[in-house]
Amino acid sequence: MRLTQYFVPTLKDDPVDAVVASHRLMIRSGMIRPLTSGVYSYLPLGLKMFRKVEEIIRQEMNAIGGNEFYLPVLSPNELWAQTGRLEDYGDLMFRIKNRELVLAPTHEEVFTSIAKPNLISYKDLPKIWYQIQSKFRNEERPRAGVLRGRQFTMKDAYSFDSTWEGLDKSYDAMAIAYRNIFNRCGLNFVIVSAHSGAMGGSASEEFMVPSPVGEDNIVYSEDGKYSSNIEVAVSFKEGVKRLESDLPLEEFHTPNIKSIEELAGFLGIEDKSRLAKSRVFVNPGKEKNEIIMVLVCGDDEVNESKLQNHFGLNIRPAHSEELAEITGADAGSIGPIDARSKGIKVFADLLLKDANELISGANKNDYHIKNIDLIRDVPDVEYLDLRVVKEGEHTSDSSSVIRVTRAIEVGHIFKLGTKFSEALNATFLDAEGKENVIIMGSYGIGVERTVAAYIEQNNDEKGIIWSGEMKPFDLMLISLNQSEGTVKEQAEKMYSELLAKGVDVLFDDRQDVRPGVKFNDSDLIGIPLQAIVGEKNLAQGNIELKIRKTGERILVNKDDALNKIIELAGT
Ligand SMILES: Nc1ncnc2c1ncn2[C@@H]1O[C@H](COP(=O)(O)OP(=O)(O)O)[C@@H](O)[C@H]1O
Ligand SMILES: [Mg+2]
Repeated sequence: MRLTQYFVPTLKDDPVDAVVASHRLMIRSGMIRPLTSGVYSYLPLGLKMFRKVEEIIRQEMNAIGGNEFYLPVLSPNELWAQTGRLEDYGDLMFRIKNRELVLAPTHEEVFTSIAKPNLISYKDLPKIWYQIQSKFRNEERPRAGVLRGRQFTMKDAYSFDSTWEGLDKSYDAMAIAYRNIFNRCGLNFVIVSAHSGAMGGSASEEFMVPSPVGEDNIVYSEDGKYSSNIEVAVSFKEGVKRLESDLPLEEFHTPNIKSIEELAGFLGIEDKSRLAKSRVFVNPGKEKNEIIMVLVCGDDEVNESKLQNHFGLNIRPAHSEELAEITGADAGSIGPIDARSKGIKVFADLLLKDANELISGANKNDYHIKNIDLIRDVPDVEYLDLRVVKEGEHTSDSSSVIRVTRAIEVGHIFKLGTKFSEALNATFLDAEGKENVIIMGSYGIGVERTVAAYIEQNNDEKGIIWSGEMKPFDLMLISLNQSEGTVKEQAEKMYSELLAKGVDVLFDDRQDVRPGVKFNDSDLIGIPLQAIVGEKNLAQGNIELKIRKTGERILVNKDDALNKIIELAGT
């Protein structure tokens, strides 16, 4: 491809609103352009990269027996109502105003609706079906370019099995395919156990690319044996010790003390574990709301994903008016004493099991209570694992130390079970002629996000560093002077010869563009190998090759250049 015929609008400077490397570099290298919040146009170079990743995904899906589909984006409300997701998706779903249609944010419903009349006997199972297609999600905060968009390409796959063992097999095959995909995409990634969340299934794992710009926090052990999304991570930590005392409850004045930090400062204590943090949540029920108070140690945070696992997806923090109405106090002054008489059920984190001499809010603004004994004063408290795991703690078996790091979720695999097949009544007849519900799995990869995650892990101050299968072209051929006869002649000759040899070349054949600009553009675009044809070297009969990643330069005789390029471009 000649650069003079290829639309690659590179930019010298960073766009003002792009702070994340992949966002900056995708725009600067002419891969994408923003249209509106969370929506991007793919320019030729960007499209070429996304297509490469799609092709890697397609090959690995086909290798495990996947069948490719292409389903519509427009999807009837009625279908989503049957699984409850027309409501559950809330504002995240784009809804069409003048038709009873939504823009599909995922495709469990549609694929299941195809399975239902077609996969009717155990002989029709198992199946792995997938597609690579646009998804639409009305993300509240689109961010970091294509990392979180409102329109993005997802490979979504679904498995249909007749037995739970069959589901395990499909899931395991998918997990291996995902490993192959992300290895081929050159990503440094970790697989973590994940929250099954909105999908309501049993097992679930995420493929995570460690990166400071990621939105997830992952937990892993130093010995590499444990890894988990922080949403479901567990650890070992000594609980708060029960003291040999029986001090009476005592209310005390804490003017303007709103936070645990302020309370610790006011009391002059360092260890915040006995300052029980009390938070109130509302769990919407069929008839009435259930009010739940959660207690964790003062130096801990409540893990809302764990709350969802225990109480359901719809549990939410009480807002300030509700708090005042339910407890009689604002957020900084609430506590478990007399919670029951206010209709609140109290759940405490396992680290607080049977603890005493705790301090918490008095359900009266600017007052706290000390000497709270959970056995004596909150007798119907229940204990659950409700806290967020922290860096430096130990794994559950105490064998290793826990680290926490940020990561980008590029893929997610779920054992769905029967949630969708039951709701849509997708059944099959087993060998005995008995009707059973199909057992499903669901498996997603974000295409643009995978490319962006790669760039996050592979860039320097000059631009992107592509390598392996992740390269838009094999070679960037640069003619330093297209107005000079011998240089032009040599560059043109190499270009046609390389094409004939099947090397995918991007040829910078621009006239009247300074060498410095060509070098910068070339490093920015980041094709792994550059071949530079310039007057000075050519006078000695040489071509310069440059490895983008290391900056290493190699002078080769012009007659050996072709072979050397083919050799180097293959790596
Ligand atoms: N808003 C988005 N922009 C880009 N990619 C996304 C977006 N949402 C999801 N993805 C990609 O699609 C994959 C499957 O999505 P899913 O697990 O359903 O999303 P989520 O974890 O956000 O609920 C994710 O692992 C991610 O790679
Ligand atoms: Mg996910």
